[in-house]
This record gives sequence, structure tokens and C-alpha cells, in this order.
Amino acid sequence: MKGFCFVHSSAPDLGHGLPANPAAAFPSQKSYNPPFVRILLLSDIHSNLEALDSCLAAAPAHDLVVNLGDTVGYGGNPNEVIAKAQTLGRVFVRGNHDKAVCGLMNLEDFNPVAGLATLWTRGQLTPKNLEWLRALPQGPIQVDELPGIQFVHGSPLDEDEYMVSARDAIEPLITIPVPVTFFGHTHLQGGFVLTGEISEAYHPGYRTVGQPESSDWPLRKDRRYLINPGSVGQPRDGDWRAAFAMFDSEAWIVTYYRVPYNLRVAQEKILAANLPQRLATRLATGR
Ligand SMILES: [Fe+2]
Repeated sequence: MKGFCFVHSSAPDLGHGLPANPAAAFPSQKSYNPPFVRILLLSDIHSNLEALDSCLAAAPAHDLVVNLGDTVGYGGNPNEVIAKAQTLGRVFVRGNHDKAVCGLMNLEDFNPVAGLATLWTRGQLTPKNLEWLRALPQGPIQVDELPGIQFVHGSPLDEDEYMVSARDAIEPLITIPVPVTFFGHTHLQGGFVLTGEISEAYHPGYRTVGQPESSDWPLRKDRRYLINPGSVGQPRDGDWRAAFAMFDSEAWIVTYYRVPYNLRVAQEKILAANLPQRLATRLATGR
């Protein structure tokens, strides 16, 4: 286990006030003052405030925060999580739950539990936050100062596609000429690498099930990668700890993190909201 540094983040002030037209806050091609070396990657927060707070407390110092989508849905604090996400910066990609909650996507592809959570979340959100969700941009998103990197929710070919296996990853890896794509959606921390015409899955290794840990994946400049930081608020890879990642764009190293959080409080909020019990119990097993 690598030494774990509980240093509070130091993201630059990118200007947090939203303009009158929320869509103007999310240009498809972003340009900020460089350097953005250390990038904090958050995905699938899913209204879990306790998990988000633990990730932010554990994250090492960073220059930029990127949110890969599904900020809301499932958890008990949608307004609070949106408020916190807005303070972190302006690089966002919309997720399928973000779209469904604000009415940009119908619920026919959602299972009953996800559908109930979507309707509950819609009822909780302020009009301003619903409008903010509607204005989130579709991936892929690129930042001018980070050539060779892009951000998506599902796949670079389809924002709602799940890339679970190396087989799923082969088409986007071969057809999209971008060396590094960060994605979310599956709630599975890890990634895929293209070597020649072979797509291989990568899973970070950890030694405990309850301690804060990190795991480095040094990347090669002559490979293509799809990289998932994992889910902050509802992991599904059998590890209950909240997941996130850091990318060092100079050293070309991804560092994955898992951090414990106040699971009981997050579960109690779900139950108190009369959301399906399954949404609370699954958090304990990371499934
Ligand atoms: Fe999600």
C-alpha cells in the first residue's frame, strides 16, 4: 500500500459563478490557463454526499477536477451534491442519470429501482439545479491544454454505452485516435489498454477491504487507453469504498484510490427518503 496523504485539494479558482445562460458554462472545448498537471477524476457520485466528502478529503493536491457524469440518482443528497460539484470547477460530462432526472431521456431503459430513484430525485431538485443538469454537455469533452486526452461518460462512440469488457473496449480503442479517454458509467474502477490490435483489461490491486489505499498505473506513450476512475457514490466492483483517480499528465501515471466513508449515514438517508431498500444495502457490498 502506498503512503496515503490526507491533503486537502487545492484546485485553482476557475470562476464558480454560473452565467445567466447555464449552457454557456459548459463549452464543448475548454480553455484555461495551464498547467493542468494533476487532474482529479470523479465519476458516478450519484447523490452520495458522504462518499464525495471522503474522496475530496483524501484527494492529493490537484490542478483540475473533471466530473465524468451521473452526479445524481440513487442517493439521498442530490441538491447538496450538485452544490458541491459546482464548486469544484467547470469540466463536466453529462451522464444518463443526469439526463433522465431532468427529463432529457425517458425511463424505459431504467430498471424499476433506478426509475423510482430518478422520479424521487426529480422531485427533490430545485428548479435551478434541474436547469443546471439540462445544460451539462455531452461527451467527448476536451480541454485545450490537455492534448491527447478526452472525457466521456459511457463510450467515446456513444455516451450511453457500457464498456465493461475488453471486447466492449476494442472498437473505441481502435477507431478513436485519442491516446487517453477517461470514462465512467460502469461503476467499475480500472481500464483497458490497446497493444497492437489487442485490448486488455486492467484492474488496480489493493491489499485491504477497509483502509484508504492507492494504486499506480504508469501509462506508455505508445499505447491507447480507456480509463475509469470508478464510482464515488455506488461502486459495483465488489469493493464498498468510494473510488476516484488522479492523472499526472506530465508523468503519464494514473493513480487509483479507494477510501472508506460514512456508509451508515448514506444508507440511513436513502431509507429515510423511502427509496428502495436495495439502494442502501448494495452500498455495503459494492455490488
Ligand atoms: Fe452511474
